[in-house]
Order: sequence, then structure tokens, then C-alpha cells
Amino acid sequence: MAEPLKVLITGAAGQIAYSLMFQVGSGSVFGPNQPLKLVLLDILPMKSVLDGVLMEMMDCALPLVKEIVATVDETEAFTDVDVAMLVGAMPRREGMERKDLLAANVKIFKSQGAAMDKVSKKNIKVVVVGNPANTNALICSKYAPSIPKENFSCLTRLDQNRAQAQVAARVGVDTQNVGNTIIWGNHSSTQFPDVSHATVTKDGKVVSVYEAVKDDDWLKGDFIKTVQTRGGAVIKARKLSSAMSAAKATCDHIRDWWTGCAEGKWVSMGVISDGSYDIPKGLMYSFPVRTKPDHTYEIVQGLSISDFARAKMDATAKELQEELAAAMEVCEH
Ligand SMILES: NC(=O)c1ccc[n+]([C@@H]2O[C@H](COP(=O)([O-])OP(=O)(O)OC[C@H]3O[C@@H](n4cnc5c(N)ncnc54)[C@H](O)[C@@H]3O)[C@@H](O)[C@H]2O)c1
Repeated sequence: MAEPLKVLITGAAGQIAYSLMFQVGSGSVFGPNQPLKLVLLDILPMKSVLDGVLMEMMDCALPLVKEIVATVDETEAFTDVDVAMLVGAMPRREGMERKDLLAANVKIFKSQGAAMDKVSKKNIKVVVVGNPANTNALICSKYAPSIPKENFSCLTRLDQNRAQAQVAARVGVDTQNVGNTIIWGNHSSTQFPDVSHATVTKDGKVVSVYEAVKDDDWLKGDFIKTVQTRGGAVIKARKLSSAMSAAKATCDHIRDWWTGCAEGKWVSMGVISDGSYDIPKGLMYSFPVRTKPDHTYEIVQGLSISDFARAKMDATAKELQEELAAAMEVCEH
């Protein structure tokens, strides 16, 4: 058996983590032969809930889980971590402005970045789920300068899964028969779900999504809107935000980063822009990436970008630049 991997889940007393930790512990992310040490972090007011979650995780009696630590101490939590799933964040409360939420969350990720910089492994891989996920991930990386920037990412896989599921339902195929959808930009309502390079496999034939759907107006209109606003629709219906689907997407994100994606396929991840597709360098922006079995990835190059796509990609980049400026102001004062 391999050495145990140390996996940190923050926001461990919250609803996403409640679905996430079982999937991680059961082997569906790192595989059936990879032992794990799980670290669960939350904040002091949630200590009692966290203790209950710890009891339940023990009671799952998962053979791959060699050790579970539940803590409210950031330094203890981040020590020697291999993979961090940063789910914990301050939820938006009634009457709270977007900028107040951003300010509260940016401080969390500044502090966690600094902790990571001091005590985590230098090859740690990080996915930020807590919103605003892109900007939180970027702030975290800025305050962890000794860790390579490529090791930080944010979750847009839920948006990709939503796009894939919408097309699959429309065409009447299984979701795995819809490939290479792309989410560009911010995990927010300005994101651009793009199917212009995506394919559908139906009756043994691979065709473009446009050819399979045969409804350009839907693909350029309601489809995009549905994916962009799906989070809000779930909150409206459930009175709680997406949790099961967010946990599943977090597992998909890390599994594909860890093990690599299939030949000819790509996945969407928020990663630091290297200037590809003229997206400003240094922004945490969702791109199509090819992940590899050595836990690295590269941004897929050479995709054609229509004027329609360009405008949407630039709009979501602009929102991210504004978020970053607001976040830096909070961090520096
Ligand atoms: N990127 C995505 O696709 C996506 C999808 C769904 C939800 N989200 C976001 O994920 C986050 C978590 O969602 P949830 O439904 O689990 O929320 P939740 O409120 O149920 O749980 C959040 C948990 O984080 C904890 N927390 C707060 N500050 C912390 C800190 N400094 N360290 C550790 N833990 C801390 C809270 O105490 C709470 O237990 C939210 O920000 C939500 O908006 C992102």
C-alpha cells in the first residue's frame, strides 16, 4: 500500500463537506489503493457540530481512512497537507452587500494562504470551493508565495456538470456522451458556458452539440442562462445552496487533476491565467485544461473563439478584475 495522503477539508461542519468527506474517504477520488489521513477544519463556534461529524466519519468504518483529525486550529489543519479542499467560507446573510461578503471571505483565504505557506507541503494541490471561489483562490495563492501558483485552482466543475447535464437531457443521451463543454471565467452569473467545441455521441456517431441539438437560439440563449443561474434556482427551490452536486463536482475536479483526463478530453478548472486566449495574466479564470497523471495540467490551446464568445469571455474577465481589486483593497488595509 502507498503512503497515506493527507487531505484537508475545510468548512467540515457545513453541508457540502457532509457529502464530500464520505466520497473522498470511500476511495472515489484517489482510488481504491490510496490510504488517507483526513483533516477536518471548521471554526470554534461550530466545534460541537464538527465533533458530531467526526463521530459519523469514524462510524463509516472506511478501510482507506487511516486517521481522522477534526480541529478548529488552522496551523494544525494545514500541517503537511497534500491536497486541500477549501470549502469553508462565510455564507451570505440577509441584507449583506456583495462587497461585505467578499471582504469577510477574502480575510479567511488570506489567513489560510499564510498558514499553508508556513506548514503545508510545497507540492500541495488546492481547490477552492467557498465563494467567491475564483478570487478566494487567487488571494490564497498570493499569501502562499512559496507554493507554485499552478497548484491553486477553484471549482467550476459544477458549472461544467450542469452544462453537460442540460445538453444530455435536451438530446436524450447519457451525460458521459456529452464531451468537452467549457466554462470560461468566473464561478458567477457572468460565467460563459460554451458548447461550440463540445460533442455528443449518439447512436455510435460523434457530432457537434450544435448539430445534435438543432436549436442555436436555445444554445445561445436559455441554455447559457440556465447554467449561469442554476445555483440561484437550487437555492430558491431547496432553501439551501447546492451541496450534493457541489461535493460531487469537487470530487470530479480533484480526481481528474490527480489521475489525468481521458485522451482527447478536457475539463474546466479555474486556474491562474498565463495570458492564454488574451485573458489578463494572473487572473484566476476558468479555462479548458488537460490534466495529466503526474498531477499537472495545461490550458488547452488553439480553440477558435467567435465574436459571440469573445464578448462573453471578456465580460467575465472584467468582473474578476473588479473582484480582485476589491479583494486587494481589503487585504492591504
Ligand atoms: N464553487 C462552487 O461551485 C460552489 C457551489 C456551491 C457552493 N459553493 C460555496 O461553498 C461554500 C460552502 O457551502 P456550504 O453549503 O457547505 O456552506 P455551509 O454554510 O453549510 O458551510 C460552510 C462551513 O464553513 C465554515 N467556515 C467558515 N469560516 C471558516 C474558516 N475560516 N475555516 C474553516 N471553516 C470555516 C462554517 O462554519 C460552516 O460550517 C459557500 O461559500 C458556497 O457559496 C461553491
